[in-house]
Amino acid sequence: MKALVYQGPGEKSWQEMPMPKLIKPTDAIVRITRTTICGTDLHILKGDVPAVTPGRILGHEGVGVIEAVGEAVSTFKQGDHVLISCITSCGRCGYCKRQMYAHCEDGGWILGHLIDGTQAEYVRIPHADNSLYPIAEGQDEEALVMLSDILPTGFEIGVLAGQVKPGDIVAIVGAGPVGMAALLTARFYSPSRLIMIDMDPNRLELARTFGATDVIDSRDGTAAEKLMEMTGGTGVDVAIEAVGIPATFDICQNAIAPGGHIANIGVHGKSVELHLEKLWIRNITLTTGLVNTNTIPMLRQTVQAGTLKPAHLITHRFPLGDIIEAYRVFGNAAKEKAMKVILHAE
Ligand SMILES: NC(=O)c1ccc[n+]([C@@H]2O[C@H](COP(=O)([O-])OP(=O)(O)OC[C@H]3O[C@@H](n4cnc5c(N)ncnc54)[C@H](O)[C@@H]3O)[C@@H](O)[C@H]2O)c1
Ligand SMILES: [Zn+2]
Ligand SMILES: [Zn+2]
Repeated sequence: MKALVYQGPGEKSWQEMPMPKLIKPTDAIVRITRTTICGTDLHILKGDVPAVTPGRILGHEGVGVIEAVGEAVSTFKQGDHVLISCITSCGRCGYCKRQMYAHCEDGGWILGHLIDGTQAEYVRIPHADNSLYPIAEGQDEEALVMLSDILPTGFEIGVLAGQVKPGDIVAIVGAGPVGMAALLTARFYSPSRLIMIDMDPNRLELARTFGATDVIDSRDGTAAEKLMEMTGGTGVDVAIEAVGIPATFDICQNAIAPGGHIANIGVHGKSVELHLEKLWIRNITLTTGLVNTNTIPMLRQTVQAGTLKPAHLITHRFPLGDIIEAYRVFGNAAKEKAMKVILHAE
């Protein structure tokens, strides 16, 4: 089979690889029909995630069709259409029992990280009963790819951790796929204002079509001041960080209202300066987290009902064999006006 293989920082290849095999009775082999590229894959290619070693097939998102199941898999059979969670979960350990699948003792984020991933014709999924979700006939499978990672991430680590409430003023720093997912799912709770902040004017325009009430181009470095002005000097109730650098965390801590929540989603490679000398008196809550994907079933209901329309995040489509070109487009998102790219195999 063909797969996208990491070859060390800056290097990748679309090449022939051995077919994955069932290793444990709880495994399934899935034939990939749709997959995509995540901002985290770009981090890996920069060498930011050293746990990923050369020879690893990348990718942790996708949908497909069950090719084979181990003898202990009871929920799925050959031919079933499935959605792959970016998080593998055994369903039995202490963390899984608390729905903290991200910290599963025999799983967590391993796909395209510690084991071979979904940017391939076939993938082995451990603990298939818990890590896959059935797709009923007639659903928009392309839209469901957005449920593997970005929608649960924006919702769980941004909106739920940030405790967005009706009437809140919410600022989201970073209008990439994850920030957009936070924007779309924050609307479930009817905030009074949804302010998107980014340096890419195209993404800010797109954010408006997704329901942002205000946008701030942060290229001049005054986003926090603008947020304070826009809120009459009070600050925002919820600040969601969806970039992962000190500058964007600073916007959040400089513009948070008393009693507010800062919900950090971004993967940080450098330490940030936490200004407790200003924050201690403001009764703020700071949360962090790796997505659990325990909200996939709920989000899937909202997609089926048409409340959530994640297909709008898809800007480009390529045959799976053109994945190198898809990486080029996604890696130059501002120039290419790219948000989410879909790779399809049939
Ligand atoms: N916590 C989790 O479980 C989890 C899961 C998935 C992704 N992530 C992380 O979430 C973050 C966002 O992911 P994404 O796929 O949307 O990434 P992305 O790179 O597509 O989007 C980031 C956005 O931030 C903007 N940006 C960069 N510098 C900025 C600045 N100084 N001010 C304002 N905006 C700025 C960029 O223009 C871009 O639109 C990444 O750090 C990713 O690794 C975390
Ligand atoms: Zn991801
Ligand atoms: Zn577990």
